[in-house]
Amino acid sequence: MEDRLIYLDNAATVWPKPESVYKFMDDFFRTMGVNPGRSGYDLAIEAGSLLDRTRKRLTKFFGGDEDAPERLVFGYNVTDALNLAIPGLVQPGDHIITTNLEHNSVIRPVNHMVRDRGAEATYIPFDAAGFVEPDAIRAAIKPNTRFVILNHGSNVIGTIQPIREIGTICREHNVTFIVDTAQTAGVVPINMKEMNIDVLAFTGHKALMGSMGIGGLCVRKHVEIRQVRSGGTGVRSADPYHLEEYPWRLEYGTPNMIGVASLSAGQDWLDERGVENIHRQEMALAKKLVEGLRQIEGVRLYCCDSLENHLSTVLMNLRGVDPGDVGVMLDVDHNIATRTGLHCAPLVHRQLGIEATHGGVRFSVGAFNTESDVDAAITAVADIAQWSRERKRKAEQHPVTSR
Ligand SMILES: Cc1ncc(COP(=O)(O)O)c(C=O)c1O
Repeated sequence: MEDRLIYLDNAATVWPKPESVYKFMDDFFRTMGVNPGRSGYDLAIEAGSLLDRTRKRLTKFFGGDEDAPERLVFGYNVTDALNLAIPGLVQPGDHIITTNLEHNSVIRPVNHMVRDRGAEATYIPFDAAGFVEPDAIRAAIKPNTRFVILNHGSNVIGTIQPIREIGTICREHNVTFIVDTAQTAGVVPINMKEMNIDVLAFTGHKALMGSMGIGGLCVRKHVEIRQVRSGGTGVRSADPYHLEEYPWRLEYGTPNMIGVASLSAGQDWLDERGVENIHRQEMALAKKLVEGLRQIEGVRLYCCDSLENHLSTVLMNLRGVDPGDVGVMLDVDHNIATRTGLHCAPLVHRQLGIEATHGGVRFSVGAFNTESDVDAAITAVADIAQWSRERKRKAEQHPVTSR
């Protein structure tokens, strides 16, 4: 067994982060850790300027409206951001279109809108390869459809959705298009204007290379999201109600400035490496992983016959072994970190027919993995498969008989 941990759980959070990110966060916290936008002394202005610069940078990175960077608002993570966007857009009687590929960060707020606010929702299944068909979205649109919401990349099966095509359909029908970029921001190029994305939700702690506790929304100029929370903004303190203007409309209280600093350093690192290069490198490892796993008797892979339009996330099961047990053996016997179970996205497993059997084992390759990590994962699964066959053989030779 390897002494070092082989981390293949990058879909949960990318780890480690670049050294430059750790260093920038540490420096920032020590030298500029004051409250931005609240006071007039130099350091507070400097901290505020990092906040503004990072808004601008991320707006450009996502292809948002560069003349309105205040519409890039920060929250805690993508879940928090979606919990601003979804209730901020839905009115009673609205229809929402989403998909079976979604994370609970979409499913639950949407279901709450249905249960608590009189909305209705349609869940579109994915096809056999793991993609949502744009025509299925088109067919589901009704006169009262308020928005289409889906993820750009699946956190379970790794498929990258045809966002551009779906965005075009939404624009043709004047339906707002919301995209959850948790799995793709930082590994797949995104351009809101070109892809007709109206609202983009992001999280900092994955491939954007930032810390936990930072995420947000980028909202195009033509979209109005109602403010759903209120509190201090640092400006116009005498106003009894929350400010209408962005960014304050969707920001409350002291921002996570260490998180903002992490995103700023993450942007530097991504600029240096190039998003496409990172994806290419991760996919080369994912291909090796899939090819290796495919050779192992009893392994079933999901939605990765082709790795076109795919992230480096691979879902598998081993015949006759509970996925949770596979995960424990990978961890305890091989020092390999994966994630098993339903991955906060139960409808994916339900559609694949593996919800009742406890989902699957997810390997997710990140920017800091190497070929030897992948080799170790393949060897480990082969060992577990061998153990499982042995166990079966022994059970057949010595069946347990009841007295
Ligand atoms: C597609 C998708 N959406 C939403 C989330 C939630 O992310 P966070 O916990 O950062 O809010 C995740 C996290 O794994 C995800 O993969």
